[in-house]
Amino acid sequence: MQPRLLCLLFTLAPISLLAQDHTNDATAAAAAAATTPAPSAAQAKQGPGRGKGGGGGGGRGGDPAAAVAEMHRIMAAPGELSKGQKLFETHCSTCHGPKGEGSRGPTLAQPSLPRAGDDPSLVRIVQGGIPGTEMPRVMLQPGEAPFIAAYVRTLGQIPLEKVPGDPAKGAEVFSTKGACLSCHTRDGQGVAFGPDLTNIGQRRSVAFLRRSLVEPAADVPQSFEPYRADVSLPLNFSYIRAKTKAGKEYAGIRVNEDTYSIQFRDVTGEIHSFYKKELAELKKDQASPMPVYGALLAPAELDDVLAYLVSLRGKKT
Ligand code: HEC
Ligand code: HEC
Repeated sequence: MQPRLLCLLFTLAPISLLAQDHTNDATAAAAAAATTPAPSAAQAKQGPGRGKGGGGGGGRGGDPAAAVAEMHRIMAAPGELSKGQKLFETHCSTCHGPKGEGSRGPTLAQPSLPRAGDDPSLVRIVQGGIPGTEMPRVMLQPGEAPFIAAYVRTLGQIPLEKVPGDPAKGAEVFSTKGACLSCHTRDGQGVAFGPDLTNIGQRRSVAFLRRSLVEPAADVPQSFEPYRADVSLPLNFSYIRAKTKAGKEYAGIRVNEDTYSIQFRDVTGEIHSFYKKELAELKKDQASPMPVYGALLAPAELDDVLAYLVSLRGKKT
């Protein structure tokens, strides 16, 4: 499914892009916007029913109800949980921490998971990931998913990490001294230069969020990855510097890229679009353009901003 969609994108992109940098051209923005939601919608439709084999074990594909029943059997037989733990350490701990304490991915050791409130949705996420986010579809053997899901459910008892700051004061720093909205959006406000922060507290662990402020360059995702239309910004993150043959220089974050062309958004929010062959220079930096707030804010202010970020969990529904 993926290659077919990508082909489609590659064929569509150049048509809508002229050879010039069309800064205020709606087509570039529209092309960029159009590429992003489509694949995730298509993926979402695939759901857990994809694939034929799998059987009652509920590996990838298979019968979701059977997978949930298997998960309950495992939870009732504590001797079985160590298998889930091993699988978790292999497939999930790089992003969620060895004990589910969280890192690049959110803490799974919480009493209730916002997106996996019931067992069928937990099994579905373990089998299929969360399309359009950094939560991948992990390649598992048939029958393994219920073991992992059962183990994740037993993590719920670890107490939530306490954040010392005051979220109300943090909100103040966020929109005044910190000027975070000059590069980020939250609830539709601000500039979409960096990742949207509307539900950042749900997407990342506390430790990761602290590192983003103190040492922004630490977690800048690998920028030499090819652009993928089916994932959210951080995984695609690439800071672009471009120089035209006429000597004009531009910088911004990548919003779309294929073999022949690249689109990026500068700090003011303007989209720039170029054919690669018309550029004299195209650089992809590892650096984060985000300021190092450890040096700009007092320690108490940092704690407050952190507490505020943790509280950002998107719309309550
Ligand atoms: C490459 C990093 C990565 C790996 C590997 C990974 N995850 Fe995730 N996971 C994430 C991120 C990031 C999110 C948050 C997605 C978002 O909302 O943007 C997430 C979200 C989740 C959620 C939803 C939590 C909620 O808020 O309700 C569950 C459950 C989950 N992951 C379980 C797992 C399990 C189990 C594995 C191993 C099979 C795994 N993840 C592997 C990065 C990862
Ligand atoms: C000059 C622009 C700029 C400013 C100002 C800025 N950021 Fe960022 N921020 C970015 C960019 C670009 C990224 C993505 C690259 C990276 O991870 O460093 C980012 C990443 C982040 C991340 C990680 C997001 C993720 O999904 O992993 C967080 C959290 C964050 N910023 C919070 C803040 C907060 C809070 C402030 C204000 C105190 C702020 N930023 C100010 C540009 C900025």
